[in-house]
Amino acid sequence: GFSLPAMAPPPSEQPDSAAAAGAGAISRVLIVMAMETEAMPLVNRFNLVEAPARESIFPKGASWTRYYGSHKDLHIDLVMPGKDAVFGVDSVGTVSASLVTYASVEALKPDLIINAGTAGGFKAKGASVGDVFVASDVAFHDRRIPIPVFDTYGVGARKTFAAPNILKELNFKAGKLSTGDSLDMCPQDEEMIVSNDATIKDMEGAAVAYVADIFSTPAIFVKAVTDIVDGDKPTPEEFLNNLISVTARLEVSVTRVLDFISGKRISDL
Ligand code: ADE
Repeated sequence: GFSLPAMAPPPSEQPDSAAAAGAGAISRVLIVMAMETEAMPLVNRFNLVEAPARESIFPKGASWTRYYGSHKDLHIDLVMPGKDAVFGVDSVGTVSASLVTYASVEALKPDLIINAGTAGGFKAKGASVGDVFVASDVAFHDRRIPIPVFDTYGVGARKTFAAPNILKELNFKAGKLSTGDSLDMCPQDEEMIVSNDATIKDMEGAAVAYVADIFSTPAIFVKAVTDIVDGDKPTPEEFLNNLISVTARLEVSVTRVLDFISGKRISDL
């Protein structure tokens, strides 16, 4: 522990930034996103700049990209898995999400990870298009290993870092997130999603959580609903139709989270 310097002014005379600069204040935030379309509103909002190749923290040959900048008391790094080298589309899904998260956390040592993106929502669990959720739990729904203990390992359910003040003060919906490598949902996935008690489904969250836990780095999952999985519209169509408008909401939500955490400690969240 440490003690206050003897000459410290009383708290009422300290400027706000004195508290912000104190021990344990959050200063480095890593934002992990899968799609460029999802990330660009944030890149523009905070004037983040792409790290030049000579400053790359990633291996040569990786398509992973990093943008950085600052906002209030925070240094922000926003990373993405980038475009697939062969197909030219965003490298969505768990494999690239876990890799880019691993490399980023190892190099940047963030105080907090924010995995932000879009998700499918279940109206039966209270989700509507445009809702923004903070996930209380994450799990996988496409890792079926029907052998004792391997089965629960496969599901990989874990509670996320609890941020009750973010939920309360910023009025997010809370729900469980289920992750898999498919945009659609086959009957077996559906069964697992129900068993995971999920309100939203994405393609990265549980993979990011797995890496965050390796490093014991707190991670929060901010997910905006683009499509209703248990609705009557075809998912790809509904997803693409709502992507731009929902991504704008996601930017507003992540900005509110960043405003909230600036000057705070992990224990304040
Ligand atoms: N991201 C947005 N919508 C999704 C869905 N229905 N499933 C998985 N990931 C998604």
